[in-house]
Amino acid sequence: MFPQKVSIVEVGPRDGLQNEKLALSASQKVELINLLSETGLRRIEAGSFVSPKWVPQMANSDEVFKTLNYQPDVQYSALTPNLKGLEAAIEAGVKEVAVFGAASESFSQKNINCSIAESLERFEAVFKLASDNNIKVRGYVSCVMGCPYEGSIEPKAVAQVSKSLLDMGCYEISLGDTIGVGTPKATSLLLDEVLKDIGVNKIAAHFHDTYGQALVNLYTALGYGVSTIDSAVAGLGGCPYAKGASGNVATEDVLYMLNGMEVSTGIEMDKLLVASSFISKILGRSPVSKVANALLAK
Ligand code: HMG
Ligand code: MG
Repeated sequence: MFPQKVSIVEVGPRDGLQNEKLALSASQKVELINLLSETGLRRIEAGSFVSPKWVPQMANSDEVFKTLNYQPDVQYSALTPNLKGLEAAIEAGVKEVAVFGAASESFSQKNINCSIAESLERFEAVFKLASDNNIKVRGYVSCVMGCPYEGSIEPKAVAQVSKSLLDMGCYEISLGDTIGVGTPKATSLLLDEVLKDIGVNKIAAHFHDTYGQALVNLYTALGYGVSTIDSAVAGLGGCPYAKGASGNVATEDVLYMLNGMEVSTGIEMDKLLVASSFISKILGRSPVSKVANALLAK
């Protein structure tokens, strides 16, 4: 059964911009995020507090969070890989964070420089400080349908890490097809396993569109009742530690599909296109979204 309502988590300002060659200034990011916050989107991932040596594009996240035009009904969040990241996020006024683990050992090493088990240990301190500060913690699991270093990934491994993160205190797990290799069948096999032990209301789908499968995979996930979807305006993004990973599925494309399915999101396409055009102009290219290009050409 398809859900009647879907909550879209806009990850373009973080997952998208972290992988663009052009590093945006804080004021450009703030303008983008402000435009997104006027579209009806209720959740926006606005930055990350990671090592600037690893991801220089996110180095100005503190300035972004300090100068945003906060809308009362929008939840702004940030990635925090460790205690240092969370401390910086708190200092910048962040009220929701995300930790990120992986279902693949090699990817965990390349992305956060430690094993899966070590990453969970590191997160303990993050959960403690977050809870002391009433900060909600989301959990990402990367490489859920394939890893750039290990190839295929067992759905059981994904279910295990997801369960550990939930038990530690995450309120939601976002399943990342980091390199966009999944297909509808792989999505089904994944969700068959993950949903054995985890309620569907705790699961979000975070699919990259590298192989053009993101929408059909999302459609499959919607059929399982998944009602939280991560996407990036103008199809921004990728992942610096997953070579060849293209952007997240475009928010415009997801919205068009959901509108056609009469699934409500509260988002206005016209306003989303304003944000899409804005960021695409800065990056000097058209949006990576068929829907945006078709609508903007009218
Ligand atoms: P490390 O080198 O193992 O950490 O990095 P360390 O504790 O040894 O510290 C090394 C240096 O980093 C030190 O500075 C620390 O102060 C600094 P130095 O003394 O050399 O000058 N440092 C920090 N600086 C700022 N903020 C911090 C921080 N922590 C340490 N929080 C670390 C470990 C996790 C920090 C590093 O590996 C890192 O930052 N990795 C970035 C990973 C990342 O951002 N990846 C992209 C996001 S994940 C993603 O895109 C996937 C997702 O979208 C889902 C999907 O698609 O699957 C979420
Ligand atoms: Mg991602």
